[in-house]
Amino acid sequence: MDILKLIKERRTIRKYKKKAIPQKIIQKIVESGIWASSIHGFQPWRIAVITNKSKIKEIASILRNKSKSIGTGPNILMSSTAETIYNSPTIIAVYNTKVFVNFAKKFRAEYVKIAQLSEIEAISGAIQNIVLTAESFGIGSCWTVLPVFCEKEINKILNLNNSLLTILTVGYPAEEGKRSLRKPINEKVKYLK
Ligand SMILES: Cc1cc2nc3c(=O)[nH]c(=O)nc-3n(C[C@H](O)[C@H](O)[C@H](O)COP(=O)(O)O)c2cc1C
Repeated sequence: MDILKLIKERRTIRKYKKKAIPQKIIQKIVESGIWASSIHGFQPWRIAVITNKSKIKEIASILRNKSKSIGTGPNILMSSTAETIYNSPTIIAVYNTKVFVNFAKKFRAEYVKIAQLSEIEAISGAIQNIVLTAESFGIGSCWTVLPVFCEKEINKILNLNNSLLTILTVGYPAEEGKRSLRKPINEKVKYLK
């Protein structure tokens, strides 16, 4: 498999077919997440896969309501995120258990800062694994952070109490998605020889 081709061809997908993702494929997609790297192997992620339609719609409606009270700017992305979630057959909520931060509290305060950062970095790696593995099965996704505004309400619905980092919407694409461009590589990468 040409991984660079897969990475370059992936686009955020916000509209999905109703067709459910087979459980075997979901299993492989989330498995790729837990195989990400993490500091000292602490594996700070916790992943919840939600296919229950009424829970998905409940989360979408919480976001819709929130979009009315968060002011201009974020409100637009919040309401479009709510629509993406509403129309998604499956959502994957990714949490931070803070297991490494709790361990690092024994050490100097600066180390706690590094621990916080390393958890976010490790979980971002897990999320990217999930996105790319989904793509490899022809499954589109949208990585969303705006639901974190509604963490408390979402946790109540899902009966979870960790720190919410992301909700990924996933499903078979019902749109092509927009080609998002990248700045020239020379602007972003420096070689020091
Ligand atoms: C960390 C992160 C957070 C994002 N949060 C949201 C979000 O809350 N709502 C949303 O609709 N899209 C969200 N996106 C999707 C981006 O807006 C989208 O990926 C971007 O337009 C680039 O498109 P591409 O993924 O096709 O390259 C997020 C993406 C990332 C990586």
